[in-house]
Amino acid sequence: MTSSAPFKPIRPKPIRKAVFPVAGLGTRFLPATKAIPKEMLPIIDRPLIQYAVDEAREAGIEQLIFVTGRGKTAIVEHFDTAYELEATMSERDKSLDVLEPTRIQPGNLVTVRQQVPLGLGHAIWCARAIVGDEPFAIFLPDELMIANQGSTGCMKQMVEAYNEVGGNLISVLEVPEEEVSSYGVIAPGRQDGALTEVKGLVEKPRREDAPSNLIISGRYILQPEVMRVLENQGKGAGGEVQLTDAMAQMIGQQAFHAVTFAGNRYDCGSKTGFVEATLAIALEREDMRDEVRAMAKRLLGN
Ligand code: UTP
Repeated sequence: MTSSAPFKPIRPKPIRKAVFPVAGLGTRFLPATKAIPKEMLPIIDRPLIQYAVDEAREAGIEQLIFVTGRGKTAIVEHFDTAYELEATMSERDKSLDVLEPTRIQPGNLVTVRQQVPLGLGHAIWCARAIVGDEPFAIFLPDELMIANQGSTGCMKQMVEAYNEVGGNLISVLEVPEEEVSSYGVIAPGRQDGALTEVKGLVEKPRREDAPSNLIISGRYILQPEVMRVLENQGKGAGGEVQLTDAMAQMIGQQAFHAVTFAGNRYDCGSKTGFVEATLAIALEREDMRDEVRAMAKRLLGN
């Protein structure tokens, strides 16, 4: 029997879960990160992890999976209910609205432990039992992704692309050619608007060997099969289990695309990136913009 119904592509499984690897040592920020997790360093009045969680929620993600390690309890406490604080604030007639972003639907925050920080790939693999058989998102909270005015957040842009093409997606950004050697770079295939087919991944190539100037940033949507690849993977660059190596193995076996992010990425794992992010956010916020602009002028002496 023939059907006259038009062909309808199968909608890929929705992205309901996100993994936040937060077990790293944060050595570049010592001694600040000796007792405070790097992911709790605040950009003005929100810790880095809050920006990542807000972006996940905007993208419709329900379950948050934190891969934690020693000394990281403050991250989980940040998303807990602080009864004493709330009671005291209420007594003093202070609004509790400021705490709203820290509220998580009961059951939607799961933590798993990475006992030894063996690398990003290993941290993701530690979440395998919770991820199960579903595609999932990954957020590196020390990379702050600020969308252009009028655009949605980075993960929402990625989820929209994923709903069209399925498979695996990474977020990429265009950088000047002289900067490519500091990053992971994609070898591009066919391009369609913001979407680029990924043919390969190269970690920190020499400028003359770089296959493009599209660098990988800290947002991913991956299929659960990556966990099996990670399971069998040895250590890579820096003696760590690298996520990039596992993704490189998936290329050719499953659909793999990059989405060029309409916005800016701030590397808050580096000191100058952290300062840049702080200034950029301050200059975007209506409650701070004018004062910060005047202050910067004063400091620069004009
Ligand atoms: P980074 O390499 O930027 O973080 O990892 P780091 O190792 O903590 O920082 P430095 O280089 O010593 O200053 C990116 C993200 O992956 C997590 C980190 O917590 C960070 O959010 N990560 C890294 C893990 O969860 N486990 C690891 O073994 C490594």
